[in-house]
Amino acid sequence: ARFVILVSGQGSNMQAIVQACQSGRCSAEVVAVLASRAQTGGITWAATQDIPTEIVPHTDFATREAFDEVLAQKIDTYAPDYVLLAGFMRVLTPAFVARYAGRLINIHPSLLPAFPGLHTHAQALAKGVQTHGCTVHFVTPVLDHGPIIAQGVVPVLARDTPESLAARVLAVEHQVYPTVASWLAEGRVHLCADQRVEVDGVE
Ligand code: GRF
Repeated sequence: ARFVILVSGQGSNMQAIVQACQSGRCSAEVVAVLASRAQTGGITWAATQDIPTEIVPHTDFATREAFDEVLAQKIDTYAPDYVLLAGFMRVLTPAFVARYAGRLINIHPSLLPAFPGLHTHAQALAKGVQTHGCTVHFVTPVLDHGPIIAQGVVPVLARDTPESLAARVLAVEHQVYPTVASWLAEGRVHLCADQRVEVDGVE
């Protein structure tokens, strides 16, 4: 399977997926990494792996539609089976989401539907939840809302700060996203009519 991964920053989730593909754990090829801004660690690292990279600076575009149109044109030159958002910090337009319906995936650092949006770890601490984690889901036009494919869970500890909690969640993201990537590569992930997700071979 062919993956294009979109990043906006350090790209640690992208790196985890690339390394899973390189080790054979995931039977896919990351055919390109695209970033929404220049000077990101993710792009720099991907280039060291001889993965094609492109930067589409969102600041170059007057509207979300214009940005999404150029982004989609570049994505389509790589003919991906799936487009994976990994630390991608732009809200995508409904037209873009519709263009990749059923093959656009995101990871969000909370146990959705809890804590959509930003600053999820501060939200979790403020609510005093005792478990937290990450969610890999199909992207729909509603932000942080789509059908859930997998989640990873971490405990919230008494002295946690947003930073300590974020680090614990990020480590689990690096387990869950490559696992989902391997399921996608094997064609095992099915989006049901009722918007539930079924994964072949997973109880
Ligand atoms: C992290 O906060 C992660 O939880 C979320 O996006 C941010 C950056 O991730 N998914 P990455 O290191 O760029 O993959």
